[in-house]
Amino acid sequence: MSINSRTPQEYEVLTGGGAESAEMAKRGLSRRRVLRLAVGAGLALVGAEATYGALTMLYPNLAGQFGSVITLQDKSKYPAGQQNEFALGQKGVFYEQAAKSYIIHLAPGPGTVFLLSGSKLTDQQAAENWVKDSDGTYWIALYQVCVHLGCKYPFRDDCKSFKCPCHGSHYNVDGEYLDGPAPRSTDRFEMSFQGGNVSVNTGKLNQHVERPDAQTRILQPPGIQCAAQ
Ligand code: FES
Repeated sequence: MSINSRTPQEYEVLTGGGAESAEMAKRGLSRRRVLRLAVGAGLALVGAEATYGALTMLYPNLAGQFGSVITLQDKSKYPAGQQNEFALGQKGVFYEQAAKSYIIHLAPGPGTVFLLSGSKLTDQQAAENWVKDSDGTYWIALYQVCVHLGCKYPFRDDCKSFKCPCHGSHYNVDGEYLDGPAPRSTDRFEMSFQGGNVSVNTGKLNQHVERPDAQTRILQPPGIQCAAQ
């Protein structure tokens, strides 16, 4: 049997040489040609690595971090409340640091007063990123940053609303503008459910909810004088 009829592995066993040499012998490749192939493969690898590096810089992997979809706790950890029952961390409104958001879980009932109805209501809810759950409750994920000049605004249990400590911008439980210098209602993220968990897409921010008027305001204002703190 000639050397050219052996596999590289057979050649290696018989001669103690490398499989690479056997392949050269088998294919009759010259060393120069092999060198050229090796250099070409090396350059292709360097090019691929450079492209990967550039793409990584342009599109950083944010999986699970702010700027991406963040899966929060089981829905049961956010008990729904009617508008007049909201209490931070207990009912209706919950702060989630990872998503830099307030998770709103609103229950219908006598303590929740809708000012719109029918398709006007559902259209406006869609425009303001409300998500209706199968049990008839509603969810919203409000971004924590005040749309006036960027302070973090707190929920005030005593006011049943959000009141920014910096210049007094005041927002209803659904983030709709009530009064103060803010140019619009609060911004909100897209949200959904992953299995039984609440999921917030912190890469999708709705910054286009205008100050409401009689045609667009969804919820009745709380009607409580909310003093500055
Ligand atoms: S930053 Fe909130 S009112 Fe000015």
